Amino acid sequence: MSSINSIEKLPSSATDELQFPMDDYQAIAGTLTVEKTESSKAPMQQNDTADEIWRSINNNRDCLQKNRDDHGEGLQRATTLIRAIGAEEEAVVVTTTDRDSSKRLQSATDKETEETDGGGNDGEFSDKEKSGRGSVENKSSLKPSPSVGISLLQFVPEASCAKSNVSETSSYSMMDDAWERLRLSFVYFQKKPVGTLAAVDPSAEDLNYNQVFVRDFVPTALACLMKVPDPEPEIVKNFLLKTLHLQGWKKTIDNFTLGEGVMPASFKVMYDPFQEKDVLKADFGGSAIGRVAPVDSGFWWIILLRSYTKCTGDFSLSEEPEVQKGMKLILDLCLSDGFDTFPTLLCADGCSMIDRRMGIYGYPIEIQALFFFALRCAQQMLKEDTDSNKLIERIERRITALSYHIRNYYWLDFTQLNNIYRYKTEEYSHTAVNKFNVIPESIPDWVFDFMPLKGGYFIGNVSPARMDFRWFLVGNCIAILSSLATVAQTTAIMDLVEERWEDLIGDMPLKIAYPALEGYEWNIVTGCDPKNTRWSYHNGGSWPVLLWLLTAACIKAGRPQIAKRAIELVEQRLSKDGWPEYYDGKKGRYVGKQARKFQTWSISGYLVAKLMIENPSNLAMISLEEDKKIEKPRLTRSASWPCSKPTATSLPYAVTLPYRWSP
Ligand code: GLC
Repeated sequence: MSSINSIEKLPSSATDELQFPMDDYQAIAGTLTVEKTESSKAPMQQNDTADEIWRSINNNRDCLQKNRDDHGEGLQRATTLIRAIGAEEEAVVVTTTDRDSSKRLQSATDKETEETDGGGNDGEFSDKEKSGRGSVENKSSLKPSPSVGISLLQFVPEASCAKSNVSETSSYSMMDDAWERLRLSFVYFQKKPVGTLAAVDPSAEDLNYNQVFVRDFVPTALACLMKVPDPEPEIVKNFLLKTLHLQGWKKTIDNFTLGEGVMPASFKVMYDPFQEKDVLKADFGGSAIGRVAPVDSGFWWIILLRSYTKCTGDFSLSEEPEVQKGMKLILDLCLSDGFDTFPTLLCADGCSMIDRRMGIYGYPIEIQALFFFALRCAQQMLKEDTDSNKLIERIERRITALSYHIRNYYWLDFTQLNNIYRYKTEEYSHTAVNKFNVIPESIPDWVFDFMPLKGGYFIGNVSPARMDFRWFLVGNCIAILSSLATVAQTTAIMDLVEERWEDLIGDMPLKIAYPALEGYEWNIVTGCDPKNTRWSYHNGGSWPVLLWLLTAACIKAGRPQIAKRAIELVEQRLSKDGWPEYYDGKKGRYVGKQARKFQTWSISGYLVAKLMIENPSNLAMISLEEDKKIEKPRLTRSASWPCSKPTATSLPYAVTLPYRWSP
């Protein structure tokens, strides 16, 4: 494992960097100094979408070229594989024989390539090869991968076939393809890798898919950390520092300044030919559809910081004063006092992976689970000093309250559904059983059939008179990984996935949400969103990236065979279909109508799933053990209000001291 000794100094000036234009007012008033810089670069920006992709391809091609002679065979194989799967190979793969397109790419981006040709990538190719071979030797018990099946075996060099059976070779090929593809998405800032493009699909309009999304980078980061035999933590560290630096920008939308702690949804590296250097642009929600700030970004950032520290043992990064400050700013945003009566975090629609209107506003499970996870990670990483001790205490109190609230009020199983069905309404005072005055008639019909006798899950949302009974995969898996779910709840979630396999997994894992909103409900809840029609995209679409989360949750639950089944399904199609962003249809049989191909997190999600199933100890990077000090949920609702005085055991935060990170 390579260790990183020096901490990059955080630049103090933001003059090199740009914010995405947040509104017309700023442009007119010219209130931001960056506006001037932007207008001077207008010609560059008009073409920046396609250029960004070409530039990234060139960067990566050049890294590969360094090892071209030694590894020509490997590249040839990758190209052949890509041709065989019908991908747009001429656009994204350059080999020794592909001279014309090589020249075309070279002339289009000569300058940028020069500027950003990735340092630190020497030996990448051999790492990849070792890594791929490692995965073969790790004797996966998975079935052959039909996507790179028999017809392609002839292209795999004999040497790598020698010790492998058909299954292993096929799996090797798909892993190999995935690593190659992942490299093509690397983004460099001043010659250092700092993230990955959301997608590298030259056949589709870029929109903002040519940016580095914080949430999208998480599986890529994990893949780099888990890579065998040599992990690549450098890109993860660079990403953490770069996004931390962006957090320091002033963020204004329509005259309103966002909180200091807000992390960007995404950023983009651009080359400024006038200054002759790379510059950054960031989006804090000002350019996003619906103008929503990403609540999940800061949480993912903290979670990833812990993964990095856990994997590398490099405590110097998380202990750096700037990093400690960044963490505190994120937490300050979420822990500030307000009018809340719930410990959960109030959110706007579109503030997380589901970044369009889908009726998740309120207290969505995805954010609550990420909040809990980030609080627990921060608890381990915050240095104790007079400044932090108060914050650490607040964190502990919130963890206790949040887990109590989610474990009790979001949990739904057969018994609980029956309880809610029989709820009385209009109850008043502390003795109320139906605390949020949920009207039983509001329970949707589908949930009565969907709920198995064995199994349960955390529902999508709980607020006054509202329970969103939909299943959301991210929130449930994160609840398992962070130990927000108790052991019994974890088992029940796994039972549900098995019992409702056809609905939640179908032909292509995994449903992001279940069921889809249709008809009038779709009208009202999504605002007639044509991208989120029933069983498409966020509205019941199937997202291969979620495979890594399911795999991690299954391993944690001691049920890896569930993940293996899902991985087998993915291996039948994902690479063959060109690594799409999402699939449509009740069973996820169709490539999504607007799905990007070569979506980076579809690729890295698969890699992480494989790396974890082959080496379950990787789970430790992204999972927290149960905190025994957190109170278990009470079993009956009627008993959930403490009538007697709180005791030390019912309020553990009052008597416990902050505990520190134990690697
Ligand atoms: C879509 C997804 C979002 C993702 C982005 C980039 O907007 O909804 O979760 O981060 O694409 O892949």
